[in-house]
Amino acid sequence: HKKLKPFPKDFLWGASTSAYQVEGAWNEDGKGPSIQDLKTIPADTSDFKVATDHYHHYKEDVALMAEMGFKTYRFSIAWTRIMPTGDGEVNEKGLAFYSDLIDELIKHDITPLVTVYHFDLPAALEEKGGWKNRATIDAFTRYCEILFKAYGDRVKYWLTINEQNMMILHGAAVLGTGKPDWKDLYQQNHHMMVAQAKVTTACHNLLPDAKIGPAPNIACVYSQTNNPEDVQAAETMAAIRNWLYLDMAVYGEYNALAWAYMEEKGYTPTFEPGDEAILKAAKADFIGFNYYASRTVAASPIDDTASPEAGDQQLAVGEPGVYRGVTNSYLEKTEFGWEIDPAGMRTTANQIYSRYRLPMIITENGLGGIDKLEDGKIHDDYRMDYLSKHIHQVQEAITDGADIFGYCPWSAIDLISTHQGFRKRYGFVYVDRDDFDLKELKRYRKDSFFWYQKVIKTNGEDL
Ligand code: BG6
Repeated sequence: HKKLKPFPKDFLWGASTSAYQVEGAWNEDGKGPSIQDLKTIPADTSDFKVATDHYHHYKEDVALMAEMGFKTYRFSIAWTRIMPTGDGEVNEKGLAFYSDLIDELIKHDITPLVTVYHFDLPAALEEKGGWKNRATIDAFTRYCEILFKAYGDRVKYWLTINEQNMMILHGAAVLGTGKPDWKDLYQQNHHMMVAQAKVTTACHNLLPDAKIGPAPNIACVYSQTNNPEDVQAAETMAAIRNWLYLDMAVYGEYNALAWAYMEEKGYTPTFEPGDEAILKAAKADFIGFNYYASRTVAASPIDDTASPEAGDQQLAVGEPGVYRGVTNSYLEKTEFGWEIDPAGMRTTANQIYSRYRLPMIITENGLGGIDKLEDGKIHDDYRMDYLSKHIHQVQEAITDGADIFGYCPWSAIDLISTHQGFRKRYGFVYVDRDDFDLKELKRYRKDSFFWYQKVIKTNGEDL
């Protein structure tokens, strides 16, 4: 566009974190273990036990967010702080922690944006089968109802499940689940969908003024060439990866192409009586989505043996006969091998908007890199460059007509990566520790901190 529309006046600038990656205090004040606390961690990588120690530093951290000018802060609640075994007994100290955090945010005019579940299923539920077991649906519903009742007076924006699609497609990296058993995973996926629907309806019933939506990872999918077969492979991947999740959250139905894929492979889930009605009854109020980069795919013959070219981000790189993930030769990569595609942000937002016509908020976007602390400073111009290009594309999408009401990059403050430890940093605030030496966990403002402060102050005009 020659001339861009301004960001809306009340645009929600902020940033995101998740409980297990930032809080630490993994077994304090009655918290039970989650699957993240118990998962096998590579020998050269930190576990999640101390993380950024945000649990003990939250006031200082919120003050830093306020200094940047945050209008919103997206954080997640650790299910095992509220219910140590995932169901049953409620832990008052856990409830109090988030109540205090919410109050602290509101004191600084920061709107809380709460994810109820971000990869940290209670270990006690996992022992009983986790999402394979339909009892987890009911436990999740009870847990969320407790949150709605405890915080609904102050929290108006809720997110259901973070990156359900990545838990299914990249379960090994995210959850440490080992080799995928797809039939089983799509059954778990179905249970999560039913759980999400129940919780969406519960939120609408208990909190008529609140808004609730999903937070999948959505990426536009490019075809490697203009060969119609490659284009069809790209459509199939988009259906399996993206639209399956959003069609369910918005229309309460399985995406037809994704369903056909599951049928052909023998992965279709079993429905219990009532599931269809539960799914149909729930409709998201808005769409939260995480965007890191586009995907590029080619057609894949059924006897495809070519090893898929793809970086770390694309562990699930395709399936013979369905699609094959390939590298996009037009895109640069981060030092961790993730492709960088700011224009894809615009394309993705426009695709979502044209399909669903719901307000959208970007719940994650960001660059993981190795930062260097020198004389109390961190010169992370690579991060500013990444973020400014993406914010520019958000504005392009707004100018295209997409209804985007907020932007929350990953991450507000340094925290532990899902599987690459503390060395892979995303924050505006540097936390002085490394994978094994915790040091004093002192906070430092990175260059990107001051840059983002200016972006917010000018409502996105000065990038
Ligand atoms: C998203 C997750 O997938 O990407 C976050 O919601 C995660 O939890 C982020 O940290 C970055 O990924 P990673 O693997 O670099 O930590």
